[in-house]
Amino acid sequence: MTHARITLDRDFTIADVPRRLFGQFVEHMGRCVYTGIYEPEHPAADARGFRTDVLELVRELGPTVVRYPGGNFVSGYRWEDGVGPVADRPVRMDGAWHTIETNAFGLHEFMDWSREADVEVMEAINLGTRGVEEARALVEYTNHPGGTYWSDLRRRNGAEDPFGIKLWCLGNELDGPWQIGHKTAHEYGRLAQETAKAMKLVDPSIELVAVGSSNRQMPTFGTWEHTVLTHAYDQVDYISMHAYYREQSGDAASFLAEGVEMDTFIDGVISTIDAVKAAGKHTTQVDISFDEWNVWDFDRFNDIEEGEVAAAGWREHPRLIEDTYNVTDAVVVGTFLHSLLRHGDRVKIANQAQLVNVIAPIRSEENGPAWRQTTFWPFARMARMAKGRIMRLAITSTQGATARFGDVDEVDAVATWDEESGRLALFIANRSLESEATVDLELHGLRPTGVRSAEVLTVPEGGDRFTANLQETPDAVGLRPLHGVALDDGALRLTLPALSWSAVELDVARA
Ligand code: AHR
Repeated sequence: MTHARITLDRDFTIADVPRRLFGQFVEHMGRCVYTGIYEPEHPAADARGFRTDVLELVRELGPTVVRYPGGNFVSGYRWEDGVGPVADRPVRMDGAWHTIETNAFGLHEFMDWSREADVEVMEAINLGTRGVEEARALVEYTNHPGGTYWSDLRRRNGAEDPFGIKLWCLGNELDGPWQIGHKTAHEYGRLAQETAKAMKLVDPSIELVAVGSSNRQMPTFGTWEHTVLTHAYDQVDYISMHAYYREQSGDAASFLAEGVEMDTFIDGVISTIDAVKAAGKHTTQVDISFDEWNVWDFDRFNDIEEGEVAAAGWREHPRLIEDTYNVTDAVVVGTFLHSLLRHGDRVKIANQAQLVNVIAPIRSEENGPAWRQTTFWPFARMARMAKGRIMRLAITSTQGATARFGDVDEVDAVATWDEESGRLALFIANRSLESEATVDLELHGLRPTGVRSAEVLTVPEGGDRFTANLQETPDAVGLRPLHGVALDDGALRLTLPALSWSAVELDVARA
């Protein structure tokens, strides 16, 4: 039997919940844009070609910010190709994904879509094949009211008011040899510094994300961040992190503990930022934008899919990395969100990659239905319920052995307290594949007055840990009521099924 004791105290908190932690990512890749969010011929499409069935699911998922338009795609992209009359837009070869890009969907379409989806836009610029000039032109186009070349072009293209984009990524994964326009840390650091300076001269209110390492296994991890920030610390507000995780050769225990690896990765980047800050005697604080994270079986992509895509020739929106997620993946995604939230004092932005079809919580078929993957649920609940302050939890848990991370807590949790609404939200995973877990939650300075909701995602009856939501069975895995929640004399006792992720919301008063 697994057991955990969790203690929290009203006065021991980490930070306000950074609402931008619940971000998503839309790249011109595979079927994320075309036949994902945009499909003019679909029966559910609106007048602008946006799929309203997908939009409804996006609203239910509840992202706060969406990064666009890439990803690797952006490093060869000309943003001007995606504005102006659609009939005049050029058709291009996208080298990143070996795809024909029609440019039928571009900046204005994305701005309209993001208004419908009620999300903030996080715009990435191309620092692979382009540079300072194109970046400052784009900021002038999007953010300047009018009376200049680029802002007047925006107005002529139908947008009288500026888009007012605040959040910008200074390129994508330029540390990676696969990236178009790959650079050394020194080359990129200088380019980021000068591009940031020029962009802020156009609009000083924007916030900029410098490119960090593409993952913790990169040979340049650590030195890349150090060099880039040594150049650009004063010009940028965030440095990015990217990470994808997968189950390796059936080692489920290690996979379920990948949140520990994410914690370690974040702590490493924080250390590097702070070392540069100290050495440079900087007074401002650079924080983290974890702007690509997810479960992704990228070995399959590297070993098989990439070859298949190349062999199939140049096509429009081919199926790319449409991973199907199961119960185990959903529990792992829950623990990634825990990791991001418990680092909410330094990780201020995070984007699950990607929103629709491409390693996504939402799937859609061309001229067909849209549905929720298993990983939809932890994101949707946390995006809706994580409000107010992040609590500093003391957790004592039964340990589980893993091949890659040694012994780890079988129970992993994070909690937020919103004083205004009087709600305390607890998000909790039981990583054990075999045992139920009993959990005692003790609150100091807060008195629970009732259980508002308690839901669990776990293996469904008749299923196993590999059960997934498929087109024919879109609701096989979801949230169901969590039974076994008892409030007794100010303490909460929970019983969690093996391999599960739960969201529990309590009404609390100051004690
Ligand atoms: O999200 C898929 C790809 O993964 C992105 O284009 C790239 O930035 C990363 O390597």
